[in-house]
Amino acid sequence: MDQRQALARHGELSRIIRHHNTLYHVLDRPEISDSEYDRLFKELLELEEQFPELISPDSPSQRVGAPPLEKFDSVRHSLPMLSLENAFSDQDMEDFDGRVKRFLATDESIEYVCEMKMDGVAVELVYENGRLIAGSTRGDGTTGEKITENLKTIPSIPLVLNEPCPALLEVRGEVFMALEDFQAMNRAREEDGQPTFANPRNATAGSLRQLDSSITRRRPLQIFCYGVGLIEGEQPPTHFGLLRKFQDWGLRTNLRETVTARGIGDVLARYADLMARRDQLPYEIDGMVVKVNDLSLQKELGEKTRTPRWAIAYKFPPRQAETLIEDIQLQVGRTGAITPVAHLKPVEVSGVIVSRASLHNWDEIARLDVRVGDWVVVERAGDVIPDVVRVLTERRTGQERLVPIPERCPACGAPVVKIEGEVVPRCQGLSCPAQLKESLKHFARRAGMDIDGLGDRYIDQLLQLGLVGNVADLYRLTKEDLFRFERMGDKLAENLLAAIEGSKRRPLSRFLNALGIRHVGEHMAKVLARQLGSLDALSQATHEELLAIHEVGPQVASSVTGFFASAENRKILADLKTLGVAPETEERRAGGPFSGKTFVFTGALTLFSRKEAQDLVEKLGGRASGSVSRKTDYVVAGEEAGSKLAKARELGVPVLTEEEFLEQVRNEEGV
Ligand code: IVH
Repeated sequence: MDQRQALARHGELSRIIRHHNTLYHVLDRPEISDSEYDRLFKELLELEEQFPELISPDSPSQRVGAPPLEKFDSVRHSLPMLSLENAFSDQDMEDFDGRVKRFLATDESIEYVCEMKMDGVAVELVYENGRLIAGSTRGDGTTGEKITENLKTIPSIPLVLNEPCPALLEVRGEVFMALEDFQAMNRAREEDGQPTFANPRNATAGSLRQLDSSITRRRPLQIFCYGVGLIEGEQPPTHFGLLRKFQDWGLRTNLRETVTARGIGDVLARYADLMARRDQLPYEIDGMVVKVNDLSLQKELGEKTRTPRWAIAYKFPPRQAETLIEDIQLQVGRTGAITPVAHLKPVEVSGVIVSRASLHNWDEIARLDVRVGDWVVVERAGDVIPDVVRVLTERRTGQERLVPIPERCPACGAPVVKIEGEVVPRCQGLSCPAQLKESLKHFARRAGMDIDGLGDRYIDQLLQLGLVGNVADLYRLTKEDLFRFERMGDKLAENLLAAIEGSKRRPLSRFLNALGIRHVGEHMAKVLARQLGSLDALSQATHEELLAIHEVGPQVASSVTGFFASAENRKILADLKTLGVAPETEERRAGGPFSGKTFVFTGALTLFSRKEAQDLVEKLGGRASGSVSRKTDYVVAGEEAGSKLAKARELGVPVLTEEEFLEQVRNEEGV
């Protein structure tokens, strides 16, 4: 390829990758599989390696790679980033509505926009001619910290806007972490002996405050945009219209959860509705933001010193309560990590009865100075298990008891060691039953071997009866073994054995995740499975070979080689193999019946989701693509299929209905 061709291909790839970034991260509507995306990205990186002059600051590759900073510069916002007045009751909201009407000298009901009040960190993004040139925190509202490189690592923040877009656009929004991501991150940190974050907001703030953007990149951050600073160019007449425009430009908004309401009565009904759904949301919100929809009215209303007159935050009541710590018990995790857990006098915290609180580690115990017998404030934030916020020292009687780091494991009595630099002490016992229990649970989990029915209760009995000493023993279980369980019937035993049997052919990535190799979670397991293709290849990979894989760092590489170096682990793997556990390797997939075939799914699918369809195609060795070309083998069209279907017809690409596609799958799978 010469330089001219490289330039053209680079431009094309950048556009395609950007397009799929928007579909995936902004619109929540991916059209290609992860592996296809990875392929495109790899091609881009390879091209840039060969022709470094192609690397522009807004290439999709530039979300990573800036050298760490010494400190953050400060930036003055061209327009101050205001904060919001708070309302705590319906009356406060009615007063707000009254003030708005009085100011505008009108009796007519006002149209408001109701948005979720995201509990994250406010930021400003500056786009000049559609290019992200700077990003900052809110700071004191006038001056913030310049965190451009960190913000650039967030996949839902576009580096380039879709045209046509304003010549200058200062966008404001909230960076946050979804609850599930937050919990997974904390679990991983706990296992690694790193301090955990108290709630998603702290985790977000901590992640944005990293001087090294490669750390920020590994944190699961997202953004919802909700407002503007300066904007040069045409503006729609309403706030809601502006949010729609954001979407057009490729900026992520929470439009799906944003509604307009006419009059304050309507707003209050929306608030009640939102409050009822609060616990079901995938992220934390701390209230509802209500804004006057008409932008000219917003302008007329203007602002006071620090807050606008046209908006207010109707806050949710805090999810806090006071209770007594009856005991602090020690929990032993899969990797031997010992964590203290507070057992509480049961108390209701906004509708949920809680009886346990996590104390994270002994640094946290020391910070809070928390003891058995203390009265404390607990808060549910981001987790069903609440956190201890502070000790009510004024209620101390002198009878309270400190809980020190144990010298011996509470489960097996082996010595406990706290390694320099880690905050979590660990049990060193090789055959610690508590560790074994957690390993078995991890092995059988949905994201691992997915052994339906093998939960806490059965695992406890397996251990009590001494039926399993490691994960391989699960595949040696017989019906007679299971009959020794309490309340075990014929059917139940058969189901459990069938579930165990059924887990023998899980995809390699799931198997790797199930093994619980340190630092190899769901994502890393996929990376390793995809790159190495088989368990044998992985077990033989050297440290250097592993390091050569994109995303694999020295920690992962050492952990993987260490895992396979252990004679005990090798024995268990050999036993698993003898017992018929044969994870489906990526090689087998490459030779699948759909091998070399490209499918495009379009329109509204009713029999399966797009993701399921793509997974099916990939499982059978094919490729799912987002766009129709001469190279497409089949287009599967759901209802209301549009331009892609037309294109397929134009190019003479065979079109299948969903049923016909499933028919093919069945034929190929031999079902
Ligand atoms: S609008 C002038 N909308 O709440 C308008 N703020 O107390 C200012 N926030 O600093 C902000 N979700 O961090 C707005 N949908 C939303 C919001 C939101 C969360 C935060 C933001 C701001 C604080 C105001």
